[in-house]
Amino acid sequence: MIDTHSHINMIETFSLEDVIANAKENGVNKIIVPSAYPKDFDEVIKLIDKHDNVYGMLGVHPTEAKSWNDSLIDKIKKLSDNKKIVAIGEIGLDYYWDKSFNDLQKEIFIKQIKLANELELPIDIHDRDAHKDTFDILEEYNKNSQVIMHCFSGSVEFAKECIKKGFYLGIGGVVTFKNAIKMKEVVKEISLDKIILETDAPYLTPVPFRGKENQPAYVKYVAEEIAKIKNISFEEVNNITNQNAEKIFNLS
Ligand code: NI
Repeated sequence: MIDTHSHINMIETFSLEDVIANAKENGVNKIIVPSAYPKDFDEVIKLIDKHDNVYGMLGVHPTEAKSWNDSLIDKIKKLSDNKKIVAIGEIGLDYYWDKSFNDLQKEIFIKQIKLANELELPIDIHDRDAHKDTFDILEEYNKNSQVIMHCFSGSVEFAKECIKKGFYLGIGGVVTFKNAIKMKEVVKEISLDKIILETDAPYLTPVPFRGKENQPAYVKYVAEEIAKIKNISFEEVNNITNQNAEKIFNLS
């Protein structure tokens, strides 16, 4: 399995060594670590240099848009010389927490889309309560980057619109929640060819560990739930989502 979105640098309950060892023991052979804050960039580089099976993304999260400055463009360009930087992320729009700087969020999002296009890297999208603006901005500005809707949270209709545009959906622990009816419907309706697995650790911990801190090893509960919903085998979910992730992120 591949955990395509995992902030292992933010996990507090377990040591990094334990997290990585536990992932391996549970069949997770690759982990991709996104950046949220500019300070994450150096942490991500350190992690990917140290651990064979860890890959990284560079980008500034929409809620951190105020920490953006244009010198980060050169920094990201330079750091992405590293072959294990496999995407720009996580970037996007978040209208859930604070709506007072939506315009700034859009501006920083657009700058990072252009950067991803220039670097020919995929884009890992954070979209919370901002489906329409996220989609419209991608439509207008994204030229050539593969798009992944990380922690997809829209309706079946929105999922279908995204698929039509060639986007992939990142599915995580939320799908295991009993009350996540909409999410389960999305997984049922959307072809496995368009789905990749993720944890978003340390957040959004799947059942049966909901309420505790999340880690990459738990991505198997996401795969199990998808298999159950689609009435297919666990192996098939792993095989197809692995192939998808390897293709999107060009993981060798
Ligand atoms: Ni995240």
